[in-house]
Amino acid sequence: MGISLKNPIIIGSCGLTNSAASIQNLEANGAAAVVLKSLFEEQILMEVDSLKSDQSIHAEELDYIAGYTRQHTLDEYLNLVSESKKAVSIPIIASINCASAAEWTAFAKRLQDAGADGLELNMYFMPGDINQKSEEIEQIYFNIIKEVKKYISIPIAVKIGFYFTGMANMIYNLSIREASAIVMFNRFHQPDIDLKKMEITSADIFSSPEENVLPLRWIGMLSDKVKCDLASTTGIHDGHTVLKNILAGASAVQVTTIVYKKGPEVIGEMLGQMEGWMKDKKYAAIKDIIGKLNHGNIKDPVMYERSQFMKYFSSAKI
Ligand SMILES: Cc1cc2nc3c(=O)[nH]c(=O)nc-3n(C[C@H](O)[C@H](O)[C@H](O)COP(=O)(O)O)c2cc1C
Repeated sequence: MGISLKNPIIIGSCGLTNSAASIQNLEANGAAAVVLKSLFEEQILMEVDSLKSDQSIHAEELDYIAGYTRQHTLDEYLNLVSESKKAVSIPIIASINCASAAEWTAFAKRLQDAGADGLELNMYFMPGDINQKSEEIEQIYFNIIKEVKKYISIPIAVKIGFYFTGMANMIYNLSIREASAIVMFNRFHQPDIDLKKMEITSADIFSSPEENVLPLRWIGMLSDKVKCDLASTTGIHDGHTVLKNILAGASAVQVTTIVYKKGPEVIGEMLGQMEGWMKDKKYAAIKDIIGKLNHGNIKDPVMYERSQFMKYFSSAKI
């Protein structure tokens, strides 16, 4: 994104980045940058919706309150950006969860004016509508980037999910637009079923280390082809996994779950593991290993492409 980082560990957007004090603590423990908690379109709309059930409020009043609520929430967020900028010297990346090209684009300018070093667009639409074609969904992503870009000059990162039919083509197409980085992949709320209560519940909000194989593969496959930076997220719980993602081609990683679970001190542990490995292998700088083991740089690139366990099944007794 054109932003220099002291190390590759960025704290991903989450509740740990929603106050200047907490961000100060993350910086003190070694975080190289933070992505602020996303400003959710739904979050604002929900606050307004909860008022609608109050019969004593007239329509005009509701409009006024809706405007006020929206402004209030947005002002709080702008304050978070400016307060954080004052409190720390690491880059502050604002985050907007957006689902349309119209709703948030002008607001991006205010984040830039408040001092944000970059803007992450947390874009995700559950492709669950049987009438909506892949191209239509993809076009929404492109439209949002184009619109937001009209208002800001700070770099834009696009955080995406992994439900794309033509994944490689889509990621390449995002990379040749105005996005300076693609963050792969967000981890979303997932439903589960409670058999005892016969109810739909939420699956674990935290990731497990096994989940990192998904971004690792796609970053390894595409980092030599895309035209922008890639950041990896989901399932990165230790320094060795940070290194794997960098070797696959990520310029930086975003971590969340492990900081919730172990506290900000884990960042120092991860950096220590990374330094240990680099010293062993005699690498002086992170830039020397970015993409060293990506699809274009290995002898057997099919390792990234293989999707069936043919070799495994033919040799293993299971
Ligand atoms: C409690 C919690 C809150 C999160 N809130 C956001 C958010 O507001 N916006 C966003 O883009 N991602 C959000 N995420 C996703 C994280 O930024 C991250 O992409 C994801 O958790 C995968 O990283 P991890 O495996 O290190 O947890 C949240 C994750 C957690 C656990």
